[in-house]
Amino acid sequence: MTDLPNVLTAPAAKPNLSVVRIPRAWYIACAAGELRGRPLAVTILGTPLVLFRGTEGRAAALLDRCAHRNVPLSLGKVEGERLQCAYHGWRFDGGGVCRAIPGLCGEAEGRGRRVPAYPVRELDGYVWVWMDPETEPDREPYRLGLDGKPGYATVHRRVVAPGTLHATVENALDVPHTAFLHAGLFRGAGEPNLIEATVRRFPDRVEADYQGEPRPEGLAGRILAPGGGVVRHWDRFILPSISEVEYAIGEDAHILVSAMATPVSDFETVLHAAVCFRLRIPTWLVRAVLTPIALRIFGQDARMLRHQRDTIRRFGGEQYVSTDIDILGGPIWRLLKEAERGELPPADAPPEVLRTVSLRV
Ligand code: FES
Ligand SMILES: [Fe+2]
Repeated sequence: MTDLPNVLTAPAAKPNLSVVRIPRAWYIACAAGELRGRPLAVTILGTPLVLFRGTEGRAAALLDRCAHRNVPLSLGKVEGERLQCAYHGWRFDGGGVCRAIPGLCGEAEGRGRRVPAYPVRELDGYVWVWMDPETEPDREPYRLGLDGKPGYATVHRRVVAPGTLHATVENALDVPHTAFLHAGLFRGAGEPNLIEATVRRFPDRVEADYQGEPRPEGLAGRILAPGGGVVRHWDRFILPSISEVEYAIGEDAHILVSAMATPVSDFETVLHAAVCFRLRIPTWLVRAVLTPIALRIFGQDARMLRHQRDTIRRFGGEQYVSTDIDILGGPIWRLLKEAERGELPPADAPPEVLRTVSLRV
């Protein structure tokens, strides 16, 4: 039997939907605490991976397919710094090199006896994987800018969004649906207000800067800033899959929601949300009151994403109509496509104002 090429067959040709795949990028595979003694199976961009942590604590990610007879390595166990396959016991190190083969007289290491390895970083309590195996990353993962700063607390949550990466990210940053789908929870409890948004494009991101927004009237707004005050609000999409919603209210209330999306497959996305905040009310109260509201809001979003995805698939593609107030969906799509084609502007390119929009929220 000859050595088979050790590559994963690429996922099937793309359907005629808004699906992008950007493999030369960092995505969160899991929370650092999920990776302990046992190997962990994770799928990113349709590719099955196995993550494991050797006894010295370093995290590693390999293609979840034993080089020998293609059993998932995630069925195996960690032995010291190596991952041992459950079938014949081959042992692989964190670089995917076979270091031991039970019963074999002679070298374990050999041509083809390798499993593709993916670069890994462990930062801010997450394990990030660079989805282009056996290559040197040319940048570092996204960081939580406020986590651990004096006066700030962070709450983490993982949710599954039944939608494409683009639909999920657009939803996270879509203002017009908040007053409607989430009426009373976030916006939409009082008379609508006329506000203005300036949309700016940076080489790796797009940002909407909202002016003139009063404190959100819903329950969430009353909890965030009981005293009211001037609101600054920014929504950002940062390549390849990060959405940020930032609010500064009055003198000292500051909240930054980072939703870090991992495309599991073309139609399912995991969101690792980190909410970093500095508020006048105690942290335990924020957790106790805001967590159920946030989950209720996300449940409403997930329901719409699932129906949207199913309808698009049933009709064989998207047929969208947009207006001025669909502020970030278009720019996010263009950024994703540029990144997919490797056609992003240089990192030092100056920001550009795309447009200024008035909307009622
Ligand atoms: S299939 Fe993994 S060691 Fe044989
Ligand atoms: Fe929503």
